[in-house]
Amino acid sequence: MTRDKSMIKDLLDELLADELVTIGRCTLYAHMCENWGYKDLHESLEKGAGDEMLHAELLIKRIMSLGGEPAVPSLSKMKTAKTIEEIIFNNKEAESASVRAYNVAIFLANRIGDKATANVLANLLDMEKEHEKWAKKQLSKVDKKKGK
Ligand SMILES: [Fe+2]
Ligand SMILES: [Fe+2]
Repeated sequence: MTRDKSMIKDLLDELLADELVTIGRCTLYAHMCENWGYKDLHESLEKGAGDEMLHAELLIKRIMSLGGEPAVPSLSKMKTAKTIEEIIFNNKEAESASVRAYNVAIFLANRIGDKATANVLANLLDMEKEHEKWAKKQLSKVDKKKGK
């Protein structure tokens, strides 16, 4: 593997690790929402967990098509929450972080001329932007309630 390819592979591994944590976070939050009686949030977050699973799959496929095996030596700490407001806030922060991470990754893939990886990442970025949009909407409802 060339140095550029290996750099992209490391980057995809990092994104994969984040997606795996995100699957767990969305699942955890979805079931907490269900338990507290927030049916719509439960359904949206559960669907979100499925989307994040798809992101992980796309990253795994791209890593393997580059000729490597996915490596996830460690996962970052999952942000837990004690209230519905914390869930909504943490979720928005995490989706915005994903948007930033995919933007950086697309920039780096383009910089080394790896258009195929950049295209996969652009597709993922579009999906994360939709998640962020939804998460921002939820947060604005909380802010409105608090009179912010
Ligand atoms: Fe994702
Ligand atoms: Fe997401």
